[in-house]
Amino acid sequence: MASQSLFSFVYIVFLSVQNLGNSDSLILKDSSEEIRGVWTWIGGSKQSNQKNVIDHNQQYPGSRNEASSWLDSNGTVWIFGGRGAESRKPLDELWSFDATRRQWHFHEFNKTLDTNEQKPPPPLGATSCSFGNKVILVSYLGAFIFRYDKNQWTALNNQTESPQPRSHAASWCDTNKGILFIFGGYSKQRLGDFWKLSLEEMKWTEIKVNTSVVPSSRSKASAWIHHWSGDLYMFGGSTNAGLSSEFWKFSLETSEWMKVSGTTGQDKCAGKYGKQGLPSSTNHPGCREGAASWIYKGHLCLFGGSGFDNFSRGIFALPDLLSDFWVYNTSVSHWVWIGGLSRGEGIPFFGEKGKQDVHAIPGPREGATSFSIGETLWLFGGSGHDVKQHDGFLNDLWMWEQITSHTPGDTIHVSFGFRVLIAIFILILALVGTIITCYSKECRFFHLKRGLRPVVKYKPVEVEMIQVAQPELHAPLEEPANRNL
Ligand SMILES: *[C@@H]1O[C@H](CO)[C@@H](O)[C@H](O)[C@H]1NC(C)=O
Ligand SMILES: *[C@@H]1O[C@H](CO)[C@@H](O)[C@H](O)[C@H]1NC(C)=O
Ligand SMILES: *[C@@H]1O[C@H](CO)[C@@H](O)[C@H](O)[C@H]1NC(C)=O
Ligand SMILES: *[C@@H]1O[C@H](CO)[C@@H](O)[C@H](O)[C@H]1NC(C)=O
Ligand SMILES: *[C@@H]1O[C@H](CO)[C@@H](O)[C@H](O)[C@H]1NC(C)=O
Ligand SMILES: *[C@@H]1O[C@H](CO)[C@@H](O)[C@H](O)[C@H]1NC(C)=O
Repeated sequence: MASQSLFSFVYIVFLSVQNLGNSDSLILKDSSEEIRGVWTWIGGSKQSNQKNVIDHNQQYPGSRNEASSWLDSNGTVWIFGGRGAESRKPLDELWSFDATRRQWHFHEFNKTLDTNEQKPPPPLGATSCSFGNKVILVSYLGAFIFRYDKNQWTALNNQTESPQPRSHAASWCDTNKGILFIFGGYSKQRLGDFWKLSLEEMKWTEIKVNTSVVPSSRSKASAWIHHWSGDLYMFGGSTNAGLSSEFWKFSLETSEWMKVSGTTGQDKCAGKYGKQGLPSSTNHPGCREGAASWIYKGHLCLFGGSGFDNFSRGIFALPDLLSDFWVYNTSVSHWVWIGGLSRGEGIPFFGEKGKQDVHAIPGPREGATSFSIGETLWLFGGSGHDVKQHDGFLNDLWMWEQITSHTPGDTIHVSFGFRVLIAIFILILALVGTIITCYSKECRFFHLKRGLRPVVKYKPVEVEMIQVAQPELHAPLEEPANRNL
């Protein structure tokens, strides 16, 4: 009816004005500089503990954590090792991922090894760095070199000095200069030594530090190399005194460590989140190990890990699996909590495969593989929560990309007052439109009968209601694994 639809129209106009007002107050003054992004579930399963899919139609890696990954000079991502659900032993598998085609490829090892070839044992928590035509892999059984051109592995064992073999070191790969830096890691105990390897000369050097204040021994810390400043950053990890939220910066110029912030010790380990999207000098992620990390437009990004959320209090607090997403702005030294949950052990929300969804959140996890391609951040697998809240090894693949502040529903940058004016203008237009329509036809609401045409009475048609079986509202949880990739 005309009256009803007019009233609902007025209501909708006022509602949208109110909404515009609300979203306006949420947007920061410098909204153009704000980082807001959205996760898209690209592939893999919503459920944990998946097997490899290798057939002639498609290939997709099964669930795993702590795989080693590197990006070659052609922009292909490589993933080697890790631990899966089936054997719980390190996986002797090499996979590559082509991000433009969104295709995985399984690379079978040549069983009849060349006499010169010394393939590394399946690595777990190994670090790697690709430079030119080779990649170096530092594992708990030593360092190994792979040459793409020769398709061959060799051991790096001709060194006068070299770090002891280890896993879970913090590592930085300078892809411009071909230098791998490693700090600490684990080899029967946590380590705190600091080394660099030149991939050009294939030579290890221990880094002599110019400061008395240095990070304590630790493993599973997150690390970033900041190409613009040449600084190395390191966050958290597992120390002999427990999980840490210490945030360290190493200047390659002065060879000095600087502790930026953070603590170690269960009772002080909760994160300080503040308001989502709002930078603050007092906000910081909680203590954690095994978090994923990326560089995004010169900023440091951190996701999840195993550690302490916003609500962990007291000396007996236990670490949770986290899904919080943080950005550190190196120019102003602020952490911003930009997404994910401030409470650990959360449930993932996948949305539809391949479709951007502002509500999508990857499940909480540690030991995931993270890599960035262009300005997209990628997250694969790890150990964490699946959609059914079961803990296990994951093989879901996620992509994060920034959305501009011009989101649908709020595309105009105008003041609240001007929005009200626009709304009033729309209302007046609608009223005029309605009046014109009423004059040209018959309209009971305004009692504007022109009496030129006979009034036709419409008899309502009797319609028999038939009960139709309701379609299932949600897609079944039993997602057939590994499709569409
Ligand atoms: C980081 O801080 C600088 C200085 O305030 C600012 O110009 C820049 O936009 C910030 N970046 C982000 C992503 O917030
Ligand atoms: C990149 O691609 C070129 C051409 O296909 C190939 O010759 C080269 O070996 C590739 N590099 C790597 C690191 O795979
Ligand atoms: C495996 O290695 C052997 C010995 O180097 C070589 O002759 C053979 O072509 C290789 N096979 C594959 C599939 O690369
Ligand atoms: C060790 O061997 C690699 C090749 O495997 C070679 O490039 C490098 O120069 C050698 N380093 C030393 C210190 O002899
Ligand atoms: C270490 O510090 C001293 C003096 O503080 C300085 O002269 C020296 O150049 C520094 N070393 C490095 C590697 O920067
Ligand atoms: C963090 O915890 C405090 C106190 O428990 C609470 O007031 C605050 O709203 C929480 N913040 C977030 C982002 O969950």
